[in-house]
Amino acid sequence: MKNILITGGAGYIGSHTAVALEESGYTPIIIDDFSNSEKSVLVGLKNILGKEVKTYEGDCNDKSLVQKIFRENKIDGVIHFAASKAVGESTKIPLRYYSNNIGSLLVLLEVMKEYDVKNIVFSSSCTVYGQPDVLPVLESTPRKEAESPYGNTKKICEDILHDHVKSKAGVKVIALRYFNPIGAHPSSEIGELPIGVPANLIPFVTQTAVGIREKITVFGSDYETKDGSCVRDYIHVLDLADAHVKSLEYLDSKQDDFIDIFNVGTGNGNTVLEVIKAFEKVSGKNLNYEIGARRAGDIEKVWANTDKVNKLLGWEAKYSLEDSLRDSWNWQKKLSGMEE
Ligand code: WQD
Repeated sequence: MKNILITGGAGYIGSHTAVALEESGYTPIIIDDFSNSEKSVLVGLKNILGKEVKTYEGDCNDKSLVQKIFRENKIDGVIHFAASKAVGESTKIPLRYYSNNIGSLLVLLEVMKEYDVKNIVFSSSCTVYGQPDVLPVLESTPRKEAESPYGNTKKICEDILHDHVKSKAGVKVIALRYFNPIGAHPSSEIGELPIGVPANLIPFVTQTAVGIREKITVFGSDYETKDGSCVRDYIHVLDLADAHVKSLEYLDSKQDDFIDIFNVGTGNGNTVLEVIKAFEKVSGKNLNYEIGARRAGDIEKVWANTDKVNKLLGWEAKYSLEDSLRDSWNWQKKLSGMEE
């Protein structure tokens, strides 16, 4: 049973990936400082898996803790999710973002070297593309000036990984550029846990539908899109989790000093208004929304070209937008004690 260290494994994507790993015959080990997650996630994981996931509470920047984990467990691979990820917040506290997001990767790579651990899957983001000139966006599309310190940390981490591989450090790396992760585990045992007012669209939609938020504002309807609202590639978190398992399997087949980058999206774009309509259909709820001003920093439209991940990793998205919205809605009803 290969042990895979998941940094930020109690987070939204990390926890769903822990399930996918266990179900694929791996043994997930979590390190999480719970700064953006809750211990209840570990209970959810136990309810899904019927067993506890070994978890270390702490910060990935704490080298002695990371060394302890590698000393106490034979780690066969790492999936590095742990990072500060709020685009807006990153413009207010950029130094914390650079220190946390870049520092934790450096610590991990150093300790992996100490223990001769070769495989790492890195959580990157489509945000590195900025507004692509050509859509769907290809991995070979030149990355643009990052719209935020958060996006810049992802670009810098990709560059660090490239240089580390080029130095013949003996590692094998895959960076996955996520598009917009949404949805929740169908059991409603785990899902997205936004802390405070949600920045992202779907949690705001579901919180409006249960009455936590009075209404949702569509940030702009004057974009060059079919209905004027922004286009994104919304991917079910289960599909995203599966892409990480397929990445580890792919790395096993590669020689040392390997790196590659993959888009992980559905390959389809949907507008904000289409998402709202789809949610109303799935939930049977009329959503209280209004059209408002554009949000600073938003790009107009982006969706993935997924040919490379389909071909090389043998992965494609299986869940539809409606599947994702249904799972998000069921999760929100569970969180709000509204289970039917
Ligand atoms: C989606 C669309 C908004 C809220 C960000 C990061 C990305 C990744 C996902 C970390 C946009 C619109 C939203 C609302 C709205 N994060 N919207 N009303 O900005 O595409 O991506 O989160 O990896 O890196 O950049 O996601 O969910 O915030 O917005 O109209 O109340 O929904 O304008 O068009 P985004 P989002």
